[in-house]
Amino acid sequence: MPTALITGSSGLVGSAAAARFARQGWAVLGVDNDQRQRFFGPAASTLGTRAALEAEFANYRHYDADIRDEAAIGALFAEHAGGVDLVIHAAAQPSHDWAASAPFVDFQVNATATLHLLEMTRRHCPAAVFVYTSTNKVYGDASNALPFVERDTRWELDPAHPYAARGIDESLTVDRSLHSLFGCSKLSADVMVQEYGRYFGLRTACFRCGCITGGNHAGVALHGFLAHLMRCAVNRQPYVVIGYQGKQVRDNIHADDLAAAFEAFYRAPRAGAVYNMGGGRQGSCSVREAVALAERLTGRPMDVSYDDHARKGDHIWWISDVGAFRRDYPEWDYRYDLAAVAESVHAGAVAAQSAR
Ligand SMILES: NC(=O)c1ccc[n+]([C@@H]2O[C@H](COP(=O)([O-])OP(=O)(O)OC[C@H]3O[C@@H](n4cnc5c(N)ncnc54)[C@H](O)[C@@H]3O)[C@@H](O)[C@H]2O)c1
Repeated sequence: MPTALITGSSGLVGSAAAARFARQGWAVLGVDNDQRQRFFGPAASTLGTRAALEAEFANYRHYDADIRDEAAIGALFAEHAGGVDLVIHAAAQPSHDWAASAPFVDFQVNATATLHLLEMTRRHCPAAVFVYTSTNKVYGDASNALPFVERDTRWELDPAHPYAARGIDESLTVDRSLHSLFGCSKLSADVMVQEYGRYFGLRTACFRCGCITGGNHAGVALHGFLAHLMRCAVNRQPYVVIGYQGKQVRDNIHADDLAAAFEAFYRAPRAGAVYNMGGGRQGSCSVREAVALAERLTGRPMDVSYDDHARKGDHIWWISDVGAFRRDYPEWDYRYDLAAVAESVHAGAVAAQSAR
């Protein structure tokens, strides 16, 4: 059976991938030091998810290491030299706002550590497939210049615009826009992942994701919009909608559907691939629409207030066009529509509440 090395294996994306491959009998080496708790506080801890993986899968082995620790990561790769088939790099500092408070930490975690992981892969297991969870923030706020029309519950793209039907594809410029420091560190890593494919011939892919979510998302105000909103709804806590009258649109993909896309790429890899990946139009909702979804699931109104000041560089409307990925991997499809995504996030919020 193949071996996968997964960074951020206790987090939302990493744990979905770890469970997927462990279930199929792969050996899974997970790297995660619960840095998410240090970034965002105890409510963001992913220790429970790590414990669940270790309890369920004898073929899951956890390494409590920091991806910035070059000696520890180098030793891990050396220990498994030639024996890793797939690297999924999902550890990150994931918040725009947090990045501004500690630019060097953000860059070291998101960019420098990615370079080191690529170099370790090239040195110790160059035949491995390398998957990077990138973000639509590599495009900065370029999408905010698109022509929008205001509807009752959401901003919409002018129906005549080429992106309107299927969303934004990879042709959007990554230049001359406001990225946030997080967007910059992720773009640095994204370009490096592409380059290890193009220059060195490694089989690498950047999945530029919209909003990823699922039952294992330890959502907090600074990261994980739908999970945080649902936690507020379930725990009867006030929820603050930040900017754009709550009409900003996000597309939401379940982490399990993303993990399935990673597997499709692993089975027929390319060098230096780049894909926009998200819930697409079918998985899109505005924040107002998400509040309505949460209210339906909990059966009671939420305590919502509105802050008029949008987050710096926040997207007004983002729907990922996943057409490029679908053309290359036609066997892949969504298993979760928006209702199923919301139910999964709701179930996760209820489980987190009873674990408190
Ligand atoms: N969740 C989203 O909406 C979203 C959207 C676009 C892109 N992404 C990207 O997907 C990836 C995974 O995101 P996620 O939502 O699973 O985040 P997450 O915070 O749930 O998971 C990341 C995990 O990495 C761990 N980690 C962070 N820094 C580490 C370090 N220095 N050493 C070891 N472990 C460390 C954390 O403890 C956490 O468990 C990230 O690269 C993120 O930028 C996420």
